[in-house]
Amino acid sequence: MLAIERLSHSFRTGQEDTPVLHELSFRVEQGEMVALLGSSGSGKSTLLNLMAGLMKPTRGSITIAGHAIEKMSENRLAEFRRTHIGFIFQSYELIAHLTVRENVELPLVFQSIAASERKQRALALLEQVGIRDKSDLFPSQLSGGQQQRVSIARSLITKPAIVFADEPTGNLDTKTEAEIIDLLIDLNENSGITFVIVTHEHEVARRTQRILQLRDGYLLEGYEQDGETG
Ligand SMILES: Nc1ncnc2c1ncn2[C@@H]1O[C@H](COP(=O)(O)OP(=O)(O)OP(=O)(O)O)[C@@H](O)[C@H]1O
Ligand SMILES: [Mg+2]
Repeated sequence: MLAIERLSHSFRTGQEDTPVLHELSFRVEQGEMVALLGSSGSGKSTLLNLMAGLMKPTRGSITIAGHAIEKMSENRLAEFRRTHIGFIFQSYELIAHLTVRENVELPLVFQSIAASERKQRALALLEQVGIRDKSDLFPSQLSGGQQQRVSIARSLITKPAIVFADEPTGNLDTKTEAEIIDLLIDLNENSGITFVIVTHEHEVARRTQRILQLRDGYLLEGYEQDGETG
């Protein structure tokens, strides 16, 4: 589903290139749920943004569902992102003046899908994430956990090949965090959604199938939760 090969990235700050990621190689198979772990500044968000096509790597390749995204033009990449990639942000990134249902439908507005089908699909997803009764409210009328459920539904509406989440529970209390992780695990196990989740929380990582760990931009050996090396 996802193949990363010898991926490196540097940021240019003033006259200097600061290397942030060093020759990373790994794969994520369809239906996997992977936690990306590492201390602050280790390069987690940078790696996630590269994999989601939000920026171009300095070197190396990123292949999603058989497509080498680093080779795509900006227009093609934007289109590919809209149709193949879901993204969940720590801060939800919902649009304040749109209702919950309209927020979930938004990624489909750019595709030629009838309004009635958009609505149907949004309501089905809101049902699945447990907040169908909130569909006509605005984001500001929801709790943080509910807002993150909206953003999860929005990330799934295009039926993406893979969903990336950058600290999706970072703004939530422990109980709500556990509920959101339960939801993501349920979506993975019962709907087969492939997830890569950035987290600081070892508790979150403990519940995923596999861990990738970054240290200072280097990938440490991943390991399976049941103790087998992978
Ligand atoms: N746009 C940028 N320009 C220059 N340097 C950057 C930029 N974005 C990130 N960096 C640097 O890259 C390194 C990795 O940052 P990144 O945001 O990927 O870390 P992170 O692991 O997500 O950290 P956190 O857990 O705090 O979110 C940091 O040293 C950061 O300063
Ligand atoms: Mg980060």
